[in-house]
Amino acid sequence: MISYTESLDGITPEKLRGFFVGWPNPPSSAKHLEILRAAYKIWLAVDTETDNVVGFINAIGDGVLSAFIPLLEVLPEYQGEGIGSELARRMLDSLRHLYAVDLICDANVQPFYVRLGMQPYTGMVFRNYDRQSAE
Ligand SMILES: CC(C)(COP(=O)(O)OP(=O)(O)OC[C@H]1O[C@@H](n2cnc3c(N)ncnc32)[C@H](O)[C@@H]1OP(=O)(O)O)[C@@H](O)C(=O)NCCC(=O)NCCS
Repeated sequence: MISYTESLDGITPEKLRGFFVGWPNPPSSAKHLEILRAAYKIWLAVDTETDNVVGFINAIGDGVLSAFIPLLEVLPEYQGEGIGSELARRMLDSLRHLYAVDLICDANVQPFYVRLGMQPYTGMVFRNYDRQSAE
């Protein structure tokens, strides 16, 4: 069974294995935990049988007007079961007091977010690939 939580109580780097699939230089599990701790809001999906985190979403923000969702990921073996939609729905609900909730995604994922009430827009990014692992 999958349970959803906003809490990092009891979450260790060992429970955060397998994320950042396809990243050439991914953050470590310890860095991942640091990212989650520093977030404005998070939601985690936990497999209650293994007690491991199998999906997560984070938002950074000012708590006044705007938030940005940098990361949403579900472990490959858990994808296609509605976990990503549930995490995103819960996050959008947690941020509903704000004016702007933004994220960057590839064009092929846009339909996923449109179904959750978001709209496509144009954005700009800067990437410092030397810092991808955050080490
Ligand atoms: C995107 C992601 C979080 C979706 O999680 P998930 O748990 O598989 O999503 P759901 O099971 O709720 O899927 C909902 C729908 O979105 C579709 N979808 C999921 N990922 C998609 C993708 N990468 N491209 C296009 N459609 C996608 C699914 O086909 C599904 O449609 P269906 O219900 O008609 O079959 C997951 O595929 C993932 O972690 N991908 C890698 C990281 C990533 O791309 N994150 C998004 C960054 S913006």
